[in-house]
Amino acid sequence: MQKAVAPTLRLRVNGVGHDVPASPDASLLAVLRNDLALNGPKYGCGLGECGACTVLVDGVAARACVIPAGGVVGREITTLEGLGTSDAPHPVQQAFIEVQAAQCGYCLNGMVMMTAALLARDPQAGEAEIRRELSCNLCRCGTHVEIMKAACLAASRMNAT
Ligand code: FES
Repeated sequence: MQKAVAPTLRLRVNGVGHDVPASPDASLLAVLRNDLALNGPKYGCGLGECGACTVLVDGVAARACVIPAGGVVGREITTLEGLGTSDAPHPVQQAFIEVQAAQCGYCLNGMVMMTAALLARDPQAGEAEIRRELSCNLCRCGTHVEIMKAACLAASRMNAT
């Protein structure tokens, strides 16, 4: 009897192509975390509601827990790990580090990715736009004041460049 061969998906993540032995129906979040060891995106609600799992798909913020991996073949996926490095963090990451805008930190992946996506498409975004953008990302610790401070700091720096 022949052994079943797991389907392979070709995904492009953080600029690198990966052949992943995953079902097209597996969630993108599961593939990123379990097959590619990219643990920046977090599993929160699993329902597309909290934002903890946010990644960029072709530069647009998307909730990886409700996206089938097969649906993003041929697209450019960026995770928190691909945004910047420890030596050269993305300006949004740098601002969140400086402001220490975390309590438990579980929501920060989503907050950073949403802010980065907003500032990439609207470099002139101010506090009102940031507040609107982050309004559907949940932080159960209530660290919203610091998160807004960090996001606005990043925006002010990126607006100035
Ligand atoms: Fe994806 Fe909550 S874990 S939105």
